[in-house]
Amino acid sequence: MAGSRTFTMIKPDAVEANHIGHILAKITDAGFRIVAMKFTRLSRKDAEIFYAVHKERPFFGELVDYMISGPIVAAILEKDNAVADFRELIGATDPSEAAEGTIRKLYAESKAKNAVHGSDSDENAAIESAFHFSGREEVG
Ligand code: CMP
Repeated sequence: MAGSRTFTMIKPDAVEANHIGHILAKITDAGFRIVAMKFTRLSRKDAEIFYAVHKERPFFGELVDYMISGPIVAAILEKDNAVADFRELIGATDPSEAAEGTIRKLYAESKAKNAVHGSDSDENAAIESAFHFSGREEVG
């Protein structure tokens, strides 16, 4: 049976700190299959659309500035129970509260610069995947 899917980004802080390889290893070691992946950089408009759900939050401007500050890796991942299992693998939003061994505990700088994104629902995983990838780019 094909697993369910989630969407992730390795964010600019983790790319800048040369953590791409370590983070991808944690992801594949945890049993996620890469369905699509690209190294890219968000435009301001991309980031504003992607994070539109947060636009009334006080940190929205900081979040957009950060997410466009450097390249990212975007990927679609597949596994049984993908959304929940991936959120467990990455840990709490704030790395100081993240469990030992989680990606954010190991690699995130702060609550804002938190190394990775993980979708919070199957519905958002589909929306976020479609924002970054055309169907033809899903090759895994
Ligand atoms: P993520 O959960 O992937 O998506 C929303 C992002 O907003 C979150 O990661 C953080 O990068 C950022 N964020 C959440 N809370 C704060 C905060 N209090 N201050 C700054 N950035 C935040």
